[in-house]
Amino acid sequence: MTKRLNLLFLVFILISGLTVKAQKFDNLAKTPPMGWNSWNTFATNINEKLVRETADEFIRLGLKEAGYKYLVLDDGWMAMERDAAGNLIADPKKFPSGMKNLADYIHGKGMQFGLYNCAGSKTCGGYPGSRGHEYQDALTYASYDCDFLKYDWCNTGKMVGSEAYTTMRDALYAAKRPVVFSICEWGDQKPWKWGGPIGHMWRTTGDIYNCFDCEHSNGTWTSWGVMKIVDMRDSIRQYAGPGHWNDPDMLEVGNGVMTVAEDRTHFALWSIMAAPLILGNDLRKITPEALAIITNKEVIAVDQDTLGIQGFRVKRIGNVDVWAKPLVGDNWAIAFVNRGKEAANLNLKWAGLPITDDIFKKEFTPGKKTYQLRDLYAKKEEGTTRKDLKATLVSHDILMLRLSPKK
Ligand code: GLA
Repeated sequence: MTKRLNLLFLVFILISGLTVKAQKFDNLAKTPPMGWNSWNTFATNINEKLVRETADEFIRLGLKEAGYKYLVLDDGWMAMERDAAGNLIADPKKFPSGMKNLADYIHGKGMQFGLYNCAGSKTCGGYPGSRGHEYQDALTYASYDCDFLKYDWCNTGKMVGSEAYTTMRDALYAAKRPVVFSICEWGDQKPWKWGGPIGHMWRTTGDIYNCFDCEHSNGTWTSWGVMKIVDMRDSIRQYAGPGHWNDPDMLEVGNGVMTVAEDRTHFALWSIMAAPLILGNDLRKITPEALAIITNKEVIAVDQDTLGIQGFRVKRIGNVDVWAKPLVGDNWAIAFVNRGKEAANLNLKWAGLPITDDIFKKEFTPGKKTYQLRDLYAKKEEGTTRKDLKATLVSHDILMLRLSPKK
């Protein structure tokens, strides 16, 4: 009898094992992922010395304490060809100690390790893509103890995004190493509509360009300044939430082209949009101003708020855009961005600025209750909503406030 029961139990286990449906790894990225990626500054000029130095700086600068976690190598980490067995290999000149060794170094510092590849036959930089090798590549990443995969969309011909990304998701799941799966399809096939069960974040737009409000032609495609990206997708916030984020691309803060005011605005808007905060600067050369921006814990807390609601533009007053993001505890982040070339003066009555978030059913009602104000960049209490808001913003600067109901 017991033998028969055991047998039945075994059959049951086998059947349920076979029918486990592949899925994305849940319980990852419940708040927008934070980290560093090599692309914006180094493109394919990466090597193990740079990565180790970046990991050292990551810790020394306090980025880990500020919440940053992933160190991601973008395009250019691989050798130009797979090995004889079809496995990906790290470029032996750039990474002579191998990827596992580098991953161990990064894990040893309490950080997590990420890599890049592409759904097409080749990556955008011409390195071996994963098409037809998805399960094999997933095992390679797992053998490195990889925690994050950015998966690009070059050389994909007529491939269908939802299918290609599902294949890679299933391959990662089969390899059993939990991985944050970052869909990098540039928004062409509306990944916000199908990406939720597949990945943890998806690019909504083409590549960022290091400027505040310009666009840059690369011949067949265009890359976009910060405000161009911000303006491009203003109706997809309902698709974002814990475990599945809209990704407006990596940060250009600290990359020396934008002013400090512009960097502040870029970082705060990404936080209001609940965007992944993936740094893209040279940590070894960071300025104190850029460091202060990227480690501003109160701005980061807006991004990382556990409600996971993506903020939105409420209105424009003159040259000033007003942004809002509902936060836990009936708090709100409210920001004023001066888009003009001249300084802008703000002078408004809070009661005239009620805000309703129809999608997530939240209301900011300064006419009915009093909120306390805190200026997150000045790190100062600024009274309550009973007082008129008066401020002067230099060109392209932001006033980033947190409002909480007065007790
Ligand atoms: C695409 C991506 C970028 C970067 C490069 C690498 O352009 O959108 O973020 O990964 O490829 O080649």
